[in-house]
Amino acid sequence: MRLPTLSTLSLLTTLTTALLPTNPIYEAAPGTWFENLAIRPNGNILLTTLTSSGLYQVNPQLAKPTVSLVHNFTSSLWTIGITETTPDTFYVIAANGSLKTLTVAPGSHHLFRVKFHSYDSVPKISLAATIPDAGLLNGATTLNATTVLAADSHKGIVYAINVLTGASTILISDPLMFPTAAPPGIGINGIKIRRGFSGDTLYFTNGATKIFAKIPLNVDGSAAGPATIVTHAPTGAGYDDFTFDQRGDAFLATGGGNSIAEVTKDPVVQSIVAGNINSTDIAEPTSAQFGRTLWDQETLYVTTSGGLAIPVQTVDGPVRVGGQVVAVDTRGLY
Ligand SMILES: *[C@@H]1O[C@H](CO)[C@@H](O)[C@H](O)[C@H]1NC(C)=O
Ligand SMILES: *[C@@H]1O[C@H](CO)[C@@H](O)[C@H](O)[C@H]1NC(C)=O
Ligand SMILES: *[C@@H]1O[C@H](CO)[C@@H](O)[C@H](O)[C@H]1NC(C)=O
Ligand SMILES: *[C@@H]1O[C@H](CO)[C@@H](O)[C@H](O)[C@H]1NC(C)=O
Repeated sequence: MRLPTLSTLSLLTTLTTALLPTNPIYEAAPGTWFENLAIRPNGNILLTTLTSSGLYQVNPQLAKPTVSLVHNFTSSLWTIGITETTPDTFYVIAANGSLKTLTVAPGSHHLFRVKFHSYDSVPKISLAATIPDAGLLNGATTLNATTVLAADSHKGIVYAINVLTGASTILISDPLMFPTAAPPGIGINGIKIRRGFSGDTLYFTNGATKIFAKIPLNVDGSAAGPATIVTHAPTGAGYDDFTFDQRGDAFLATGGGNSIAEVTKDPVVQSIVAGNINSTDIAEPTSAQFGRTLWDQETLYVTTSGGLAIPVQTVDGPVRVGGQVVAVDTRGLY
């Protein structure tokens, strides 16, 4: 039997899968780029941005959600990767990055601890680490309570950062993580660990090669073998950050694809489940996370840049909107 190629398969499923409903939660002023998000135990969404030094918060439960500043990292120019280690303690990468050049001032990478003490308190902010040799730190994830992993998009490596001592070491380096060009080329971008009975696996995207890939991990987080490609981004789209659902299926922000791609775990099948390349509903998505309260655990929250880098080609011509937070109702998938 002749199996359909992946692109035929994704085209077929694109045509036959009904798109999931999307609901705008918040849209910022034009020129705002939301880069990443993390969900607090109380359901509030923390937002990082490449166009300011703020960390923001929005309560998606409100009828008219507004975004408030959690903290201004005044010694930096942008906030980027964010990850939770223990309940309501987050680590945020901040640096003197420039969206125009996609470069970061050497020596300006910081990892800040953002520790909330109660449901709705002002968090305590402290510096956890500086990563002096980093090129451009992008996605972050949690290896364990004391170790944060950070993807370096320029160097094509993953750092392990000890949040107690501030020490950072190069944990993983693999050719599939490399950018294809010198800076400002972007290689490895989003990273997440999927836990498994026979060991953990680090999944990652590569901005330059537009791949979603995986690499097996040893217990200490080091690579247990070479990385392999899971999927290529759909035609016209890219891959930015992503998350997993409880089944282990991945949901990837497709950047200029203006959509969310679902990649099922087994078998690996890719389909566009929300958004549309010609629609501003999800305008240049950057990242995605599921809600974590009872009422929204099947809601996928997506951040966008509003098309700041790649405007949405609509019937009315190219359109940019402000960075968005969009809720995708995934109940139709389960
Ligand atoms: C954050 O601090 C910078 C530098 O002091 C300032 O320019 C900027 O307006 C502040 N942002 C907010 C949202 O207060
Ligand atoms: C980063 O930017 C801040 C705020 O503009 C500035 O005070 C600081 O010196 C810069 N640091 C580096 C290493 O470029
Ligand atoms: C976390 O992982 C690091 C890196 O492998 C390891 O050295 C450390 O012991 C681990 N800590 C815990 C609490 O498991
Ligand atoms: C839809 O987007 C594609 C890719 O950007 C573009 O080539 C095409 O012209 C667009 N179609 C319409 C109707 O805007």
